[in-house]
Amino acid sequence: MRLSYLSGLAIAGLGRFPVAALDFYISPTGSDNNDGSSADASFATIEHAQGAVRDQISSSLTDNITVHLAPGLYPVAETLNFTAEDSGRDGFTVNWDGPGAVVSGGIEVTGWEEGSDGVWSASVPKGTESRNLYVNGQAANFARRKLANRKDFQFTSSGMTWSNGQYDWLMDTEGIAGAEVRFINSFTDRYALIQSASNRQLAMKQNTWFNNMWGYDTVAQPNADFGVWVQNALALISDGGQFYLDSAAGTVYYKPLDGENLTTATTYLGVLECIVSVGGTYDDPAHDLTFTGISFAHSTWMKPATVGYPDQQTGAYIGENSTYTPSNFESTRPHWFQMPGAIQISAATNITFSGGNYTQLGGGGIGIGNDANAHTSGVGLGAAHITVSNAYFTQIMGNSITAGGVQADAHHPSNAGMTNSHLIITNNVFYNTSSLFTSTVPILLTYAHHSTISHNDLHITPYSGICHGYGWGSNDAGGSPEYQNRGLYNFQPKYSDPTTSNTNLIAANFIRAYGHSHTDLGGIYTLSKSPSTFITENYVLDSGAYGLYTDEGSNSYTFTDNLLFNTGTWLAQNGANTDNNTFDGNYGHSGPTNWPGNSLIDNISQASVAVQRAAYRAGVEPGKRVNRPETSETGAADSIVTVTGDGQGVVTATISNFDDAAFEGVEFDVSSGSSGVTFTAEGEVPKEIQGNGDTVVKWKASGGGGSVKVSVGVKYTNSRTGEVGERGGSADVSL
Ligand SMILES: *[C@@H]1O[C@H](CO)[C@@H](O)[C@H](O)[C@H]1NC(C)=O
Ligand SMILES: *[C@@H]1O[C@H](CO)[C@@H](O)[C@H](O)[C@H]1NC(C)=O
Ligand SMILES: *[C@@H]1O[C@H](CO)[C@@H](O)[C@H](O)[C@H]1NC(C)=O
Ligand SMILES: *[C@@H]1O[C@H](CO)[C@@H](O)[C@H](O)[C@H]1NC(C)=O
Ligand SMILES: *[C@@H]1O[C@H](CO)[C@@H](O)[C@H](O)[C@H]1NC(C)=O
Ligand SMILES: *[C@@H]1O[C@H](CO)[C@@H](O)[C@H](O)[C@H]1NC(C)=O
Ligand SMILES: *[C@@H]1O[C@H](CO)[C@@H](O)[C@H](O)[C@H]1NC(C)=O
Ligand SMILES: *[C@@H]1O[C@H](CO)[C@@H](O)[C@H](O)[C@H]1NC(C)=O
Ligand SMILES: *[C@@H]1O[C@H](CO)[C@@H](O)[C@H](O)[C@H]1NC(C)=O
Repeated sequence: MRLSYLSGLAIAGLGRFPVAALDFYISPTGSDNNDGSSADASFATIEHAQGAVRDQISSSLTDNITVHLAPGLYPVAETLNFTAEDSGRDGFTVNWDGPGAVVSGGIEVTGWEEGSDGVWSASVPKGTESRNLYVNGQAANFARRKLANRKDFQFTSSGMTWSNGQYDWLMDTEGIAGAEVRFINSFTDRYALIQSASNRQLAMKQNTWFNNMWGYDTVAQPNADFGVWVQNALALISDGGQFYLDSAAGTVYYKPLDGENLTTATTYLGVLECIVSVGGTYDDPAHDLTFTGISFAHSTWMKPATVGYPDQQTGAYIGENSTYTPSNFESTRPHWFQMPGAIQISAATNITFSGGNYTQLGGGGIGIGNDANAHTSGVGLGAAHITVSNAYFTQIMGNSITAGGVQADAHHPSNAGMTNSHLIITNNVFYNTSSLFTSTVPILLTYAHHSTISHNDLHITPYSGICHGYGWGSNDAGGSPEYQNRGLYNFQPKYSDPTTSNTNLIAANFIRAYGHSHTDLGGIYTLSKSPSTFITENYVLDSGAYGLYTDEGSNSYTFTDNLLFNTGTWLAQNGANTDNNTFDGNYGHSGPTNWPGNSLIDNISQASVAVQRAAYRAGVEPGKRVNRPETSETGAADSIVTVTGDGQGVVTATISNFDDAAFEGVEFDVSSGSSGVTFTAEGEVPKEIQGNGDTVVKWKASGGGGSVKVSVGVKYTNSRTGEVGERGGSADVSL
C-alpha cells in the first residue's frame, strides 16, 4: 500500500517537494490488519511492523524510516532479530522510536493465592522455564537457606560432606536433588548442582562440580568467603522475597516481603533469554539502525540449570560440560563462555540504542560483540560504531553491558570483520545492578579499540565499577611469564602480535557505593596491555575497596586527573607483569604517597581546578541530568573563582563555571582592607556567566599605594539547579 503510494508520488512528478520521512506506527491497541501509516492506523506488533519495514527497504529508501511505538507493553514470545534485511540503506537509517514503550520477554503472573506459611502461588503455563521472578520491578531471590559455615564441610571430588548434625536437614529437604549450592567468594559467585543428599553428603552433578573445584577462588579454597546457600527447591523457601518455579506443574511460589501485597503487585517471570538480537554476518552486517527511548524488560538465563555457573570473572564461566585436560586448569581458559545479554549486538555497524530503561534482565543487559557463544545469532564479535547512551539500567542480574569477547577471535581475530571498535557507552545511569550474579559489573570492555566509556553514573554495585581489558596479560605480544609457568601455552598460542585492545578512553564517570559483596576489585579495574588508553577525570566515591586497580598485565594505561575519594586505597597495582602505566594529576583520599605528581587530599577544594571541574561534571553531563532516574549531583562545587593581581593595580577574577547552564543574577563584591582604595571595572561586569567555561572580569584599583590584599566575592544562581553559589578569592595587588 505504502509502496504504491510512494511510487505514485514519483510517477506524478511531485519529487520536487521534500519527501516526508517514511513513518510507521505501532500501538498495543492497534491491529496488524491496519496499514501502519498513522497513529490511528497503527499496527499492533513489532513483528508485523518489521515485515512492513523490510518490504520498504527491499524496494528503495529515499528517506529515513521511523517506526513509532506508542507507550505501553509489547510482549514478545520470540527473540526479535534485526539483520541486514532490517538495516538502513543508501545513507538512510531505520529508527525505532518509542519513549514509554516496554518490550517484554516475560509473562505476567496473575491470580496469586495465599497458601499456608505465608507462601503464595500462581499458575503459569505448564513447562514454563525461568530462573527469574520480578516483583514490582525488583528481582526475587531463589528459595534458599544459608549454610552457617563453609568450614563445617569437607569438599571431595564428588561433593560436600559434613559431620555436624546441624546440617542433617539437608538430607530431609524435599527436592534437594535438583537444587543447587551457591558460593559467594572473593571475585567469583559460583553455582553447582546437587545430584542427591544422603549419608551426610551432598553428591554433586558433574562436570559442574569438577569445574567449580579447580582454578582460582574455588568453592573449597575461596580467596574470601561471603557465604554459601542451598537454593532452588520449594522446601527451602524461608524469608520473604524468595520464589520457586515448579515448571512441570506450572506453578510459581513466592513469599512476599513485609508490606508487599501480591493482590496488587506486578509480577513477571522472565522467559526469553534474548529479547532483541541485532546481527548479520561479517560480510553482510546489520547496520544503520537506531532504537530510541525503548525500554527492555523481563528476561532469564537458563544455562546455570544445566552446567551450573563455574564463574571465572565478570561473567565469563566454564560453559561446556567438559573436564578439558584434568591435569591443568589452564586447559579451560581458552574455552570460557560469556553470559549472554538480553540485547545482543554483533556483526553490526552504525547501531545506536539511546534512552529507555533496561530492567529485570536475568543474564546480562546488553552484549556488544561478545563471543559467538553469547549470541543467539550464532555470529559473535564484529561490532563497530555501536553507541549505548542516555539509558537507565537497574535490576540487571549480570554485567549490565559486556563489550567484547574473551576467546581467541576476540583478541586476535582470524577475520578482520570480527574486530570490535568504536564502541561508545555514554551518559547512562546504572543503579543497583548485578543483582543476582554479584561478581558481575555495570560495564566490562574486554578487547576493542577506539572505544569510549564516558559520563556514566554508577551507583550501588556489588563488585567493580568499570572493568577494562581481559586475559591477565596472557594474550599480549610475547605472552606472560606467569602463564608460561602455569602451562597455558600448552593449550593456546603465545601470540607475537598485540591484542585488539588500544586507544580507548574511560572518562568522566561517577562511580560510587561499589564493591560491597566482594574483594579484589576497583572502581576502575584494568587487565592486560592497551596502548594509548586514557583513564581520566573519573570521580570514585563511597567504597572501602580500591579506587584504581591495575591488575595483572596492565600495561600502557595513562591515568590522569581522577579523583579517588573512596576510603580504600586510591591505587592498587598487581605486581605481576604490570608495567608502563602513567599516573599524573590524580588525587586520592588514602593510600600510597610515593607517586610523584599525584597527591592525597581530604577536601576536593584542595584539588587542581581540572579535577574540581571533573568532580562536578562526573556522571551524566550536567545538562542531561534533568528527568533522569536516580541521577544525582556529585556534591562537588559548581564553580571556583581564582583571583590574581598584577603590579599595575589590576585585579583579575576568573570564574570557572563547571555546569552546562549559565549562572544568573551574578553579583560581584570587590574590596580591600585599605581604606581609600576604589575599584573600576574594565568593561562591563557580567550579570550572567556562561556555562561550561571560564569568564574573566578585571578591575583597576586606584587611590592607595604599595601592596594591598584585594578580595573578590561572587554570588550567583545556577540556572539549572536553582542553587545559590557564593565563592570568592583574594590576591595581593601592587598599586
Ligand atoms: C530469531 O532468531 C532466533 C535464533 O536463530 C530464533 O530462535 C528466533 O525464532 C528468531 N525470531 C523470530 C521472530 O523469528
Ligand atoms: C536519519 O536518522 C539518523 C539517525 O537517527 C539521523 O542522524 C539523521 O539526521 C536522519 N536524517 C534525516 C534526513 O532525518
Ligand atoms: C524508567 O524508570 C524510571 C524510574 O523507575 C521510571 O520513572 C520511568 O517511568 C521508567 N520508564 C519507562 C518507560 O518504564
Ligand atoms: C537493590 O535491589 C535488590 C533486589 O534485587 C533489593 O533487595 C534492594 O533493596 C535494592 N537496593 C536498593 C538500595 O534499592
Ligand atoms: C491487598 O490489596 C487488596 C486489593 O487492594 C486489598 O483488598 C487487601 O486488603 C490488601 N491486603 C493487605 C494485607 O493489605
Ligand atoms: C555432563 O557430563 C556428565 C559426565 O560426562 C554427564 O553425567 C552429565 O549427564 C552431563 N550433563 C549434561 C547436562 O549434559
Ligand atoms: C555508517 O555511518 C557512516 C556515516 O555516519 C557511513 O559513512 C557508513 O557508510 C555507515 N556504514 C555502514 C556499514 O552503513
Ligand atoms: C608504554 O605506553 C605508551 C602509552 O600507551 C605506549 O605508547 C608505549 O608503546 C608503551 N611502551 C611499551 C614498551 O609498551
Ligand atoms: C572543604 O573545604 C571547603 C572550603 O574550605 C569547606 O567549605 C567544606 O566544608 C570542606 N568540606 C569538608 C567535607 O570538609
